[in-house]
Amino acid sequence: MNSLYNITLFLHSWNRWLILVAGVIVIAAAIKGLTAKSDYSPFQKRWSLIFLSSLHLQLLVGILMYFFISPVTALALSDFGAAMKDSVLRFWAVEHTLVNIIAIVLAQTGSILVKRISNSAGKHKRTLIWSGIALILILAMIPMGMMGVERPLFRF
Ligand code: HEM
Repeated sequence: MNSLYNITLFLHSWNRWLILVAGVIVIAAAIKGLTAKSDYSPFQKRWSLIFLSSLHLQLLVGILMYFFISPVTALALSDFGAAMKDSVLRFWAVEHTLVNIIAIVLAQTGSILVKRISNSAGKHKRTLIWSGIALILILAMIPMGMMGVERPLFRF
């Protein structure tokens, strides 16, 4: 395993935790805001920014691995047709990548829509819906064994 691959896998693996923690905080704060009928706070704004920034970093590192570094996706791309018949290669080449990109687009769209509405209840609702769906998709695509692909939860 070359060192660039190690570094990017390490970054991508740990950044997943930042994404999950930030995502849960963003959603919990939106639920609290809705039930308490409170204003959309600077705290929420800050954590939404952390959530989106960590997603952008994940996308960047993911694309680098996908096209230039990972031997797994290199193998899949060398014969895409054959890779589609192998559930592990298909997971990395298609499912993990495509579903996560959709999730990132949804989270980004939500953040734009939150900025476009001025009332706090609307901001909480839009955060809850768009970031909520994004987080569910992200969770489903983390290789924890559910789709037959398992990777360490903490990579050292
Ligand atoms: C929020 C989104 C994402 C999360 C939470 C996530 C999470 C993960 C995790 C936990 C791993 C396993 C790392 C390890 O083995 O320690 C992984 C691997 C990988 N991910 Fe992501 N990922 C996301 C988005 C993406 C995107 C958008 C792409 C591509 C554009 C991508 C491409 C890859 C690749 C190529 C691998 C390594 C496959 C290999 O060589 O074994 N990921 N991802």
